[in-house]
Amino acid sequence: MSTNDHNLSNRLTTVRDYIRWGASQMNAAEVYFGHGTDNALDEAATLVLHALHLPPDLPETYFAAVLTPQECATVQALIEQRIATRQPAAYLTRRAWFMGLPFEVDQRVLVPRSPIAELIERQFQPWLADPEAVTAILDLCTGSGCIGIACAYAFPEAHVDLVDISPEALEVASLNVAEHGLYERVQVIASDVFTALPGRRYPLIISNPPYVDAAEYASLPAEYRHEPALGLQAGTDGLEIVRQILDQAGDYLTEDGWLVVEVGSSQAALLAAYPDLPFIWPEFERGGEGVFLLPAAALR
Ligand SMILES: C[S@@+](CC[C@H](N)C(=O)[O-])C[C@H]1O[C@@H](n2cnc3c(N)ncnc32)[C@H](O)[C@@H]1O
Repeated sequence: MSTNDHNLSNRLTTVRDYIRWGASQMNAAEVYFGHGTDNALDEAATLVLHALHLPPDLPETYFAAVLTPQECATVQALIEQRIATRQPAAYLTRRAWFMGLPFEVDQRVLVPRSPIAELIERQFQPWLADPEAVTAILDLCTGSGCIGIACAYAFPEAHVDLVDISPEALEVASLNVAEHGLYERVQVIASDVFTALPGRRYPLIISNPPYVDAAEYASLPAEYRHEPALGLQAGTDGLEIVRQILDQAGDYLTEDGWLVVEVGSSQAALLAAYPDLPFIWPEFERGGEGVFLLPAAALR
């Protein structure tokens, strides 16, 4: 940032001023948005409100409030850090939101953003016959634990297993289980896909596994380099883990269970590799695509 900005606080005074300024700076620097927000103003609001220790849903009347000189400097430094380091805002604030719930995140886990949140909210209707009968759920490739923990809220009777191969990711998932006070119903398990789960059966298996193919990974914006490669990379065609899930899920689903998997941009490769599987591709009101559902019967 240039030395001209040292006197920024003479020109910018309010919360609104700093959100506008932060958005302009990030746009000018061509920062990438895609880890929790999709535009500069929302990203700037996230960072400014965080720096001021204010809630992310601050009522607009407070946007005219004037910052102290110290607050101006803190806000400016955070926006500058976002631009200089290209870290997703969630790593700077250590907070992400999924299905309206707060999650602690850092560079050990991907920033939660799966459209599966919308399906959890509606308890996988109309596909899941009887949500009340769901007593066990597996969140495979759990990262921060966001999907499984959101499921624990949506299915209050269910026990939930959070599985990941990364011990670092499981540390973060455990923090989130504790923060949500769910340790009696939500268990964290280290496992390479299904390896550590012999004999378990679930009416619902949900997974947002790594699915980025080699070519796409090489071209991702800088923000993605701060995320664990293990959470993104999945071989040449992006299907390395998805293939294992499809091969084995039938053995871990109950008879009328459902498998739900996000494959994102690898949807075309999946359809080419499995032309005979009856994938269901739900539409999302709040954006996103590339999530399929399959009934257990299709996997046997
Ligand atoms: C795309 S991230 C998803 C994280 C989280 N479910 C979410 O939606 O934010 C994929 C996760 O899969 C984990 N993973 C990668 N390979 C795995 C494997 N073979 N078995 C289990 N987990 C794996 C990574 O450590 C990472 O946390």
